[in-house]
Amino acid sequence: MLREKQSVEISVDKEFARPKIIVQQFIVVAAAIALSLFLLFLGFYLNRVSDPYIQQVLSLKGDRIKGHAIFEINCSGCHNRQSTPNVGPNLQNLATRKSKVKIIDQVISGKTPPMPKFHPKPQEMADLLSYLEEF
Ligand code: HEC
Repeated sequence: MLREKQSVEISVDKEFARPKIIVQQFIVVAAAIALSLFLLFLGFYLNRVSDPYIQQVLSLKGDRIKGHAIFEINCSGCHNRQSTPNVGPNLQNLATRKSKVKIIDQVISGKTPPMPKFHPKPQEMADLLSYLEEF
């Protein structure tokens, strides 16, 4: 009689324990996925930031006037200050939306067609950057 009661208690305990284990496993798997995604993005970011070209551009002092000239020749066909529809978006207040690294990446990567992939020399890119930052 006593034994029976015990076994009933034990089996009730297990019933409660199972969903708990599933929840714990789920949390572990979710945490592992979140961590690997984080590391992946961190890897991409560090890879971009440590890119020697980007490092060189960031170390140079840009000339706004030259940057303006480079912009007029290469970019103004698609980008302008007006809100009239154009091929590319209005770049006003760009610096508040995008970091320097992101802006450089946008210009040299060619990842958003129809915007072409540009190959400015580091000094030219630094000039362009200083112009775009106060666009
Ligand atoms: C052939 C047209 C074209 C030319 C030329 C061009 N772009 Fe673009 N640009 C685009 C388009 C289209 C986008 C939007 C891409 C997207 O997000 O899908 C864009 C996006 C951008 C962005 C991101 C804007 C944002 O709000 O996030 C920046 C910065 C930019 N261009 C800078 C430049 C610079 C600097 C030049 C010159 C060196 C240039 N572009 C030349 C078409 C062009």
